Amino acid sequence: MCGIVGYAGRDRAAEILFEGLKKLEYRGYDSAGISTRDRGEIFTAKRGGRVEGLRLSLKELKGTVGIGHTRWATHGEANDANAHPHAFGRFAVVHNGIIENHAELRAELRAAGHVFASQTDSEVVAHLLDFYYEGDLADALRLACARLKGCWALAVLCADFDGFAVTRRGSSLILGRGEGFMAASDICALGGRSAFYCVPEEGDIALVTPSGIEIFDAELSPVGRAFSPVRDVEPDSDKGDCPHYMLREIGQNARTVRATCASVARLPGLKEVHSRLGAADRIALLGCGTAYNAALAGVRLLGGAYDACVTAHIASEARFDPPGLTARSVCIAVSQSGETADTVMAARAAREAGAYLVAVTNVGYSAITRVADKVIPVCAGTEICVAATKSYVGQLACLHILASPGRADVRAAQLLKAADGIERVVADGSRALEIARLCVRSRAVFFIGRGADADAAVEGSLKLKEVSYIFSDGYPAGELKHGTLALVDESVLAIVLITDEGLAEKCENAVEQILSRRGRVAVVTTLADVHRRLSPRTDAAWLLPPAPAHLSHFLTAAALQLVAYRAALLRGCDPDKPRNLAKSVTVE
Ligand code: F6R
Repeated sequence: MCGIVGYAGRDRAAEILFEGLKKLEYRGYDSAGISTRDRGEIFTAKRGGRVEGLRLSLKELKGTVGIGHTRWATHGEANDANAHPHAFGRFAVVHNGIIENHAELRAELRAAGHVFASQTDSEVVAHLLDFYYEGDLADALRLACARLKGCWALAVLCADFDGFAVTRRGSSLILGRGEGFMAASDICALGGRSAFYCVPEEGDIALVTPSGIEIFDAELSPVGRAFSPVRDVEPDSDKGDCPHYMLREIGQNARTVRATCASVARLPGLKEVHSRLGAADRIALLGCGTAYNAALAGVRLLGGAYDACVTAHIASEARFDPPGLTARSVCIAVSQSGETADTVMAARAAREAGAYLVAVTNVGYSAITRVADKVIPVCAGTEICVAATKSYVGQLACLHILASPGRADVRAAQLLKAADGIERVVADGSRALEIARLCVRSRAVFFIGRGADADAAVEGSLKLKEVSYIFSDGYPAGELKHGTLALVDESVLAIVLITDEGLAEKCENAVEQILSRRGRVAVVTTLADVHRRLSPRTDAAWLLPPAPAHLSHFLTAAALQLVAYRAALLRGCDPDKPRNLAKSVTVE
């Protein structure tokens, strides 16, 4: 979603904010803007398009205090007028979140004579501040927030105040202390300047000035909040030698599995989680997008290990149609960012129903960690590419260990072998290019498989469509003949995953059905026999290293991520920043 950043210190703010915004751009890249303050005057540069578009305006932004924004459009198209900061009267405001009652507030403020310059929900905040302001920024912010419905992280510049104010409800916000004082949506934007960080509580209001940070609760009583060393969560946001973050992060799959095993198999309290799972009447896994696809895999893994009824739920649905959890149930919320609004809300609802809440997440200071009873860390390191890759295999590793009561060490050892296999897949990606070429020549691509391969197929399809914009879908192979086969002709490609000997024959039937309708077929398999039989008859066949069926998911995931990456490049798409998307979807 949108990213916000603020700085107050001794150095020029514009360049620091610009660098911060570049790091936050993974959250949205529809438009960007910066406001700075100098001697009672506010200077603003903003425009549609990427953060880079602000570079030439930086020298016009005077002062050592300022705020910045990179936008993922929700209300109003991605143009200059709708770019943040939004200014009115003595205020400039940046916002991440959604103001749900903006239309009602807009009507009220219009009636009081306010004229609006954009179609955004966020602009009402600048007008409300102006409406309530009587010389005290924190108080105006308190009164304005009391009128808002929805979720927000806000940073506010006021011409009369040498600093800026921030507050949050439901959206992420981190305060930083070091060389100057900062606030940002993500720790990565604190840009090496902050030695210590703090996550303010919901409703807190902080005043950030060149001489320090004062934090107040929602009633403006001063509160102390703990700061922790940034080095404990140092983000790794370097592309290395890779042309794209996506390729670099696919290359970190194996490392992620190893680090996750090392950390989770010895996690204090893991025994307690295993025993909760063992005693549960229901185990409900929640997630969105790729995290939901990991949850699907989790159903097979946990379903085979525990007596409970194990189900996976799309978080945005589960929130309004809760899966009947009780005090004996366990809910496992899966989220890379730990900030996805749908997942956090559904997890809260599960907890309110009495369930024991386990969060499987890559971000140890995220919102979901504050509602969970137990956090299972995905040790992927910072994932910058909008498409989830290494975090997905890390989530799978966590779910494997959760599904191994009393023998986490044994499963971890197996996962380390899978990590070696992933490395071999990534090192020999020539087949990925061949399959990607078939994808870009196709009108549609169907990913199919049976058993765990069906789950991998769904994720492979999501990866391809989001980075290459090729229409694709993922199915259990047996479903093809119940409808989708009607679409198959020579312009359609089926990518068929076959990794389970017991199911191979049935999958080969699906291949025959496609070939006899002149569809194209690419096979991705860990089975040498299947490869030998099918490679002469299909358009491409990729033999992955051998792996037991329950671990092959790691190999097919890496292979299909590479196919998607190559297809994006062949189509001239930016795989790191797919159109219309953003990482960390903090709106519902
Ligand atoms: C796909 C992708 C998204 C996320 C989804 C959930 O590649 O990245 O589908 O998986 O938005 O995000 P998290 O895991 O942060 O909750």
